[in-house]
Amino acid sequence: MRRAIKSFAITVVTGFRRVGKTSLIKAATYALPRVYIDARKFESFQYLTYEIFIEELKASVSRFVAVNRRVLDYLKAVKGVKVLGLEIEFDHGRLRPLLTSILEAMDLWARDNGEKLVVIIDEAQELVKLRGYDIIPAIAYAYDNLRNLSFVFAGSKIGLLYRFLKVEDPSSPLYGRYVERIELKPLSREKAIEFLREGFEYHGVKVDENFLNKAVDRVDGVVGWLAYLGLRVVSKGYADPAIINEVLEEASKIAVNEFCN
Ligand SMILES: Nc1ncnc2c1ncn2[C@@H]1O[C@H](COP(=O)(O)OP(=O)(O)OP(=O)(O)O)[C@@H](O)[C@H]1O
Ligand SMILES: [Mg+2]
Repeated sequence: MRRAIKSFAITVVTGFRRVGKTSLIKAATYALPRVYIDARKFESFQYLTYEIFIEELKASVSRFVAVNRRVLDYLKAVKGVKVLGLEIEFDHGRLRPLLTSILEAMDLWARDNGEKLVVIIDEAQELVKLRGYDIIPAIAYAYDNLRNLSFVFAGSKIGLLYRFLKVEDPSSPLYGRYVERIELKPLSREKAIEFLREGFEYHGVKVDENFLNKAVDRVDGVVGWLAYLGLRVVSKGYADPAIINEVLEEASKIAVNEFCN
C-alpha cells in the first residue's frame, strides 16, 4: 500500500465489506499528509450536487489544515476560498472554488514541503451520484499535472467503483491512465484462527480448538467479522456457540443490503 502511494498517482483498493480496507488505508497513511473523504456518508442520498461534495471536501481539508497550518497560505490564493484565522470558507454558486484549483494549491504545498499528499476517497463509488458535475476530469488533470498528489479510491462495490472511474472507457478523461489495483482478501484459515486465538489469549478467555475451527469455517477470514465475534465472546466471558450464528446474521444483513443496492 505504501509503495503504491509512493509510486503511482492513483491506487484503487477494493474488497468485501468489513475486510479491512479503511483500516489498511488509514494505517498505511498514518504518518503521511493526507486528506480523507468518507463518501459512505452519501450512501443514502439519491443524488449529490457539487455544493454538497465541496462542503465535504472543505471539512476534510479543514482537518488537514489543523495539523498543517502553512497550507492556508496556499489555499488563500484560490479563487472562491476565504481564510478567516484558521478557518476556511468556500464561496457558493458561481463564485465557488474549482476542484482543480484546490488540488493545485494542495499540490504546491506538497511540492514546497517535499511531501506526497495523499487524497483518499473512501467508498468513492458513491460519487457517481453527482449530478451536473463530474470529478473525473479534475482527477485526470491531477494525474497529468499534479505530481505531488497521490489518490486512493476505495470501495466495496467493486463494479460501481470502476464504473465511476471509467479507466477503461475511451471517452473518459481517465482512459489509458495507469491505476494500481489492490484487492484486499480475507485472511487465510490459519491466519484467521491465529487471529482469534491470540485475541482470546490476550483477554484471558479460554476457548477450545473446536470453537475456533467452527467459527472460521462459518465466518471465513473477514477480519471485521472475526473481530466482532471475538468481542462478543470476550464480553460474554465464554465461547457460546450461539455467538457464531449471531455474527453470521449480522453479516448477512449487510450482504442483503448490498445486493439490493
Ligand atoms: N488488520 C486488522 N487487524 C485487526 N482488526 C482489524 C484489522 N483490519 C480491520 N480490523 C477491524 O475490522 C473491522 C473492519 O475494518 P474496516 O472498517 O477497516 O473494513 P472495511 O473493509 O473498510 O469495512 P467496510 O466495508 O464496512 O467499510 C474494524 O472494526 C477494524 O477495527
Ligand atoms: Mg471502510
